[in-house]
Amino acid sequence: MSATAKTDASLNVDHLVQEDKVHKSIYTDPAIFDLEMERIWGQSWIYVGHESQVKEPGQYYATTIGSQPVLLTRHKDGNFHVLFNRCAHKGAQLVGDSSGKVKDLRCGYHAWRFDMDGKCIAIPLAQGYDDTGFSKDDECANIQKLPRYDSYRGFVFASLSAEGPDLVTWLDGVASSIDNMVDRAPEGELEITGGVLRYEHDSNWKFFLENLNDMMHPMIVHQSSSLTARKVAKREFGEGEKTPSAIEIIGPFSEGYDFCNVVGLHAFPHGHGYSGGKTSIHANYSDIEEYNEAMHAAYGKERTDEIFTVNRHNTVCYPSMTLKGAIQTMRVVKPISVNKTVIESWTFRLKGAPDELLKRSILYCNLINSSANLVGPDDQEVYGRQQSGLQAQGNDWMPLSRDLGRDEDMGDGYLYAQGSSDLAFRNQLAAWKNYMGEED
Ligand code: FES
Ligand SMILES: [Fe+2]
Repeated sequence: MSATAKTDASLNVDHLVQEDKVHKSIYTDPAIFDLEMERIWGQSWIYVGHESQVKEPGQYYATTIGSQPVLLTRHKDGNFHVLFNRCAHKGAQLVGDSSGKVKDLRCGYHAWRFDMDGKCIAIPLAQGYDDTGFSKDDECANIQKLPRYDSYRGFVFASLSAEGPDLVTWLDGVASSIDNMVDRAPEGELEITGGVLRYEHDSNWKFFLENLNDMMHPMIVHQSSSLTARKVAKREFGEGEKTPSAIEIIGPFSEGYDFCNVVGLHAFPHGHGYSGGKTSIHANYSDIEEYNEAMHAAYGKERTDEIFTVNRHNTVCYPSMTLKGAIQTMRVVKPISVNKTVIESWTFRLKGAPDELLKRSILYCNLINSSANLVGPDDQEVYGRQQSGLQAQGNDWMPLSRDLGRDEDMGDGYLYAQGSSDLAFRNQLAAWKNYMGEED
C-alpha cells in the first residue's frame, strides 16, 4: 500500500481501513464525510429521542439524522411516529423549536395542517384542487414518515433505509446496557429530565466515539483535573469521612493502566461495544440508602444485587448514541461536517428513585460532560488537536495493532479484550468499512 491513498474519483474507500491501521483521510476528507452520511447515517439505525420527551398526544421533539431534519411525535392514538420535518406542500420546515405541544402540525407558510402521524387534515381553500387530480387525501399530501422507526425500552431509533436488521437484532449485545439502565429504576421506567448540554466540537464525529472506550487516555488527558481532585480529597477529608460526590466522580479518571485493563472492553457486531462490566469508574459511588430501599421493595435483594453488579463505563450504540447506565447519562452524536460535530449530553430520572440520585447524574453531566467544566474540555481539546494535527503531512496511516490477535472470542461475534487493547477502535472501524463498502 502506498503512503497516500486514493480517496476521491471512485470513492471506493474500503482500503482505507485495514485490520491493523486506518488512513487519516477518513477523518479529514469532505467527500468521505458526504459518503458516510449516505452509507452509514443513511442506512443504520440512528437514535432520534426518548419516548418520555413525547409523553402526551400533540408533543413533538425535533432533531436530525445527518442532514435530514426529523420529528418525533406522539399521535392521539398513543403511538409515536418519526416524520420528516418538512411540509408536503412547498417544503417549509414544520417546526422551528426543538420541542413543544400542539393541537396539530400547522405549516407556517400556507397553513396546511397535519395530524401527528403526518396525515394531511386540512388545506385552506381546498376547493381550488377540485377536479385537478390532487386532493388532501392523496399520500403525497401527507408528511412522509421515515422508512423505519422503533423503540427499545423507550429509546427511539429511526432509519432512513427500509432495508436492514430490525432494531433489537441490530442493538445485539448493547441492548443489555439499555436494559440495565432501565432496570435501575424502581418503577422500571426512565424519563429524560434536566435539559440538554449541547456543544460543538471542531473535530470529526468518529474521534468522539473512539475516545469513549480509549482506556489509554484518561490517566494522561485528565491527569490535571483528576489528580487535583484526589489531592484535595486527601487534604480535606479524613479516613472514613464521607467525601463529596464531586470528588467521587472526578477521582477515578486518573486511575492507572492496571485498573483500565481490569475494566476491559466488550465488542459486538455493527460497531457497538462497552467498557467496564464488573467494575468501572462508577463502581465506588456512595450508597444512597433511600434508593437501595426502593430497589429492594421493587425487585427483592437478590435481583437488585444482580442489577447493581453490572457496572459499565461507556456503551456505544454505533454511530449515534452512547450511554452511561450506572450514572444515567447519555450522549448523542450529531455530525455537522468533516471537522464539526455537535455532542448532546442528556440526563435521566429513574422513576421511583429519590431526587438525590438525579442530582448526582446532573452533577456528573455538569462536571464531566460540560464544555465549561473539568473533564470534557480535556477531551475536546485533544479531538481538536487530532483534527488539526492530521492536516500535517506524513504518517498517513495510524496503527490499530495494540493487542491485535489477542481478543477473547465470547461466541456470537462477541469479543473481549483488556482495557488497553485497540479492540474498540478496530471494531468501530470494521463496522465503518462494512457500511461504507456497500455500493449504491
Ligand atoms: S409550504 Fe407548507 S403550507 Fe405551503
Ligand atoms: Fe476522556
